[in-house]
Amino acid sequence: MTEIRTVLLTGGTGQTGRVVTDVLSGRGVRVVVASRSVPKEELPSGARHVPFDWADPGTYDEALRGVDSVYLLPPPLDVDPVGVVEKFLGAALAAGVRRAVLLNSCSFPMTARGLHAVRLTVQQMPEWSVLLASGFMQNFLGAHPTAVAVRERHEIVTAAGDGRIGWVDAADVAAVAAELLVRDGHDSREHVITGPQALSYDDIAATIAAEWGLPVRYRPVTATERAAQLTGAGFPRPFVDALVWSDVLTANDAEDRVTREVPRITGRDATSFTEFVRHHPPER
Ligand SMILES: NC(=O)c1ccc[n+]([C@@H]2O[C@H](COP(=O)([O-])OP(=O)(O)OC[C@H]3O[C@@H](n4cnc5c(N)ncnc54)[C@H](OP(=O)(O)O)[C@@H]3O)[C@@H](O)[C@H]2O)c1
Repeated sequence: MTEIRTVLLTGGTGQTGRVVTDVLSGRGVRVVVASRSVPKEELPSGARHVPFDWADPGTYDEALRGVDSVYLLPPPLDVDPVGVVEKFLGAALAAGVRRAVLLNSCSFPMTARGLHAVRLTVQQMPEWSVLLASGFMQNFLGAHPTAVAVRERHEIVTAAGDGRIGWVDAADVAAVAAELLVRDGHDSREHVITGPQALSYDDIAATIAAEWGLPVRYRPVTATERAAQLTGAGFPRPFVDALVWSDVLTANDAEDRVTREVPRITGRDATSFTEFVRHHPPER
């Protein structure tokens, strides 16, 4: 089989894309980082940026030139990305791309049909993988509304009750993606990617309180209250519905699972939530 030499990363400046860039550049793979805005940090040697907008098909061909394999991060907050992803993959096939690795979530409810349908769309590629990632530990950092609530109000509010989630470090998801984007012997299947433990929001609050020294507590609310909160934070309505349904599924134990895909595919253990919080000091 011909070696994969050039990889295009849609969402290449995002939290998973940046790690995939570093991992693949370090392995001597040519990386094309695609996004609307230019990267804030200097790219590693062997990587270059290309302007790319999902909403502008005129940007697809230039981004895909000379590419063997694509990291597919559909437009964030779009609950029905099938149309644009189909158009993009059509251009990718015409450009000679043979592999696509799609980042998706394992907690999208069936009501978000478009987010599930895109998993089938990617199967038109000769070689494909779908990453069904669990909740990102990074949701407790930066500008994510959950992180802002922890920092400013010392609380976590969800409609997930005492349901557990197999929280995963986005860097581990990226490490899996990097491996599947370039490795020989591709298996064309879906992978549920979790961290090493399933934890409730009470567990999460206790860990953050212990490691960051913040009096964080978990406040479970109803689905209606959660929807109002997310709408107030500026999320579009269809996306709010998807998130709230995902909370309800969590409350019903749908996310209470742990897989070993990170160690199996990357050869190293997945990061635990305690390690993650310890390595990311509280932000002011
Ligand atoms: N958070 C979770 O718990 C979780 C769990 C499982 C799966 N996921 C999946 O992870 C995805 C996010 O991945 P991430 O965290 O690596 O990304 P991210 O940090 O949210 O960054 C988004 C990336 O997409 C680019 N982008 C946004 N709109 C675009 C557009 N219209 N055209 C082209 N590029 C665009 C951004 O760059 P520009 O803005 O410069 O274009 C950026 O590079 C979500 O969509 C979700 O499906 C998240």
